[in-house]
Amino acid sequence: MSSFRSCEIFPSFVSLSHVFGFLLLLPGGSANGEDEHANVDWDNLGFGFMPTDYMYTMKCSKDGSFEQGQLSRYGNVELSPSAGVLNYGQASSHLQGLYEGTKAYRKEDGRLLLFRPDQNAIRMKMGADRLCMPCPSIDQFVDAVKGVALANKRWVPPSGKGTLYIRPLLMGSGPVLGLGPAPEYTFLIYASPVGNYFKEGLAPLNLYIEEEFHRASRGGAGGVKSITNYAPVLKAIARAKSRGFSDVLYLDSVNKRYLEEVSSCNIFLVKGNVISTPAANGTILQGVTRRSVIEIAGDHGYQVEERAISVDELMDADEVFCTGTAVGVAPVGNITYQDRRVEYKIRAESVSQELYSVLEGIKRGLIEDKKGWTIEIS
Ligand SMILES: *Cc1c(COP(=O)(O)O)cnc(C)c1O
Ligand SMILES: *[C@@H]1O[C@H](CO)[C@@H](O)[C@H](O)[C@H]1NC(C)=O
Ligand SMILES: *[C@@H]1O[C@H](CO)[C@@H](O)[C@H](O)[C@H]1NC(C)=O
Repeated sequence: MSSFRSCEIFPSFVSLSHVFGFLLLLPGGSANGEDEHANVDWDNLGFGFMPTDYMYTMKCSKDGSFEQGQLSRYGNVELSPSAGVLNYGQASSHLQGLYEGTKAYRKEDGRLLLFRPDQNAIRMKMGADRLCMPCPSIDQFVDAVKGVALANKRWVPPSGKGTLYIRPLLMGSGPVLGLGPAPEYTFLIYASPVGNYFKEGLAPLNLYIEEEFHRASRGGAGGVKSITNYAPVLKAIARAKSRGFSDVLYLDSVNKRYLEEVSSCNIFLVKGNVISTPAANGTILQGVTRRSVIEIAGDHGYQVEERAISVDELMDADEVFCTGTAVGVAPVGNITYQDRRVEYKIRAESVSQELYSVLEGIKRGLIEDKKGWTIEIS
């Protein structure tokens, strides 16, 4: 058989679609180089959920390995009433749900960038280990995130108007009551275009220091992105919001004196040339943004300290800011502790503004990425 005939392995475009699966199902199509945008009011995006075209699902087989994930149209998922995530996800010592949050950014030239999705994959692996769940490999996780971003490309907001928030979930989806089939786990990813996380937009945050409720305790699962970490503090958040605060800053549950973090972001203090943040000691979520900001701050000549920070130190900090994928780098304008309120002057050339510009610049391809943090996927 002549070598020419080997092309018959892929005799047509249709067969190619079996090999490259989802890639050819892409909506909008970029064949003509023009990206069709979904019909969304991009100037008024908030942080609400908006369904997109595709989601990704991968189940683990009985031997605990994940394989054959696939994209499908976005829609409801089916779960057994005895699924681990429904029965023990929020109520007992069985913690069977993890989530992640990462974003796709649109460059000015229309191409898409992901920011350090491997770090989210590593964190999910740590969480799965902590909660005794099997987990997709780093490559499986990153490939799936890429697939979801590309399949929903028309939902990635124009450059500067927002981002596509990508939400990977890992849950115990098999029945767990009594003897039966081996438990099943599902890895699922969906995405939604988002704008600013806080209704304040980019205005400084007004934080309330919570003394009654704690987010995490020593030996617990506060250091991983477990779904169980959020329900217990919803009450504290609701109470603070009803009193006009943007969010809650939690203290450690042992001494009730050391800063931990805000509900969904990490916290930093600036004093002179020193930037400090609470050491991640099992009760603090190790944010990808936190790690990135620590590295950028070091590169820009700041002395960065990860250590125990008492609440008293807030009182004479020059500047305070929060970090997270959803919030970016958000300046704090006021913090209320007991009956005291500290106000931080927001300068035009603040440290948080400087760090925010560099980080956003890298994420959106405006600044050269010398660290290999971004992945271009279009
Ligand atoms: C997700 C999260 C963060 C921020 O982590 P990033 O990786 O920077 O997005 C911080 N604290 C909590 C509690 C979180 O859930
Ligand atoms: C970390 O936790 C241990 C106890 O689990 C404690 O002894 C230590 O001081 C903590 N370190 C920091 C920096 O908070
Ligand atoms: C602090 O809060 C007060 C009252 O909400 C507000 O008027 C002020 O602008 C805030 N300060 C900063 C720096 O955000």
